[in-house]
Amino acid sequence: MTGQDRIQALAEHGVEIHAFPESWTALAADVLHGLSSTPKTLPPKWFYDARGSELFDEICDLPEYYPTRTEAALLADVGARIAAEVPAAEVIELGSGSSTKTPLLLDPLRDAGVLRRYVPVDVSAAAIQGAIPALTARYPGVEIDARICDFTTDLCDLPAPTGAPRIVAFLGSTIGNLQPVEVQAFLAQVRPLLGPHDALLLGTDLVKDVAVLEPAYDDAAGVTAAFNRNVLAVINRELQADFVLDAFDHDAAWNPVLERIEIRLRSVCDQVVRIRALGLEVTFQAGESILTEISRKFRRGGIERAYAQAGLGLRSWFQDPSAWYALSLASIRD
Ligand code: AVJ
Repeated sequence: MTGQDRIQALAEHGVEIHAFPESWTALAADVLHGLSSTPKTLPPKWFYDARGSELFDEICDLPEYYPTRTEAALLADVGARIAAEVPAAEVIELGSGSSTKTPLLLDPLRDAGVLRRYVPVDVSAAAIQGAIPALTARYPGVEIDARICDFTTDLCDLPAPTGAPRIVAFLGSTIGNLQPVEVQAFLAQVRPLLGPHDALLLGTDLVKDVAVLEPAYDDAAGVTAAFNRNVLAVINRELQADFVLDAFDHDAAWNPVLERIEIRLRSVCDQVVRIRALGLEVTFQAGESILTEISRKFRRGGIERAYAQAGLGLRSWFQDPSAWYALSLASIRD
């Protein structure tokens, strides 16, 4: 949906549009669509206001949440090999968040004397703003060109390849939030950002034992539950809704057929929620849920096929010793 389509959809629903920023209409359209669907859904990108980004950083430090530290250890291990294979002058990082793992990629490129420009891209302005001081201090002489946008839809605004080697990094297995068709749409947008000497560096969490997977999304301290409920707080604030956060239980379950974790908010009782800015009343039955996130887990063959469909070819595959997590490099095929 473009911004104009969203405004149109809202107008048809009788919602008046004033000079709201594009992000407001995007949230309004997503909430209107998602909460009038059966089953109810909400897209995970709305978790990440300042509080949500903070909670996500806490998740990354949880003992149960293995992906962040597994990816970091792997990147620490193979970062120099990646830098040797693609001596990038420019790194575009999609979904950079607080950029805490970024040095594991940027340091080897700086040490090789090739890095000139870093472009962090994220939906969260707060996260990007928080990351910038440490980046400018750590990489003097490297241009930091931050972009606040939704990298699942707005990649066309990013600079075209200049001929200098470039890495487009998409770490953290954020790609796991996307359905297969969305992955193809995403890769189709990445492809024109790559020249012949460039590569996509993709982080992907791999299929593993359910006994490891489920606790990672339902931690004992309840941080993931608070992160999940935070989307309701965002809707309360931005769209004048009256969700009672305690009236929804956090639920995380492995779907072995679709090979994904499904995260839901489950209504603990029959209730009606008012969303004033949309003139909407949403009815929940006890036990009814909102699907707030999918976190897909991958296998090497599936990733190779997704690359091939997008005109990309897998050029390197790195995985940690337990085979829990993979980093792959893909380039355009001619
Ligand atoms: C940021 C999408 C990679 O799916 O593991 C963590 C988000 N949600 N715990 C993931 C998340 C609940 C995370 N990603």
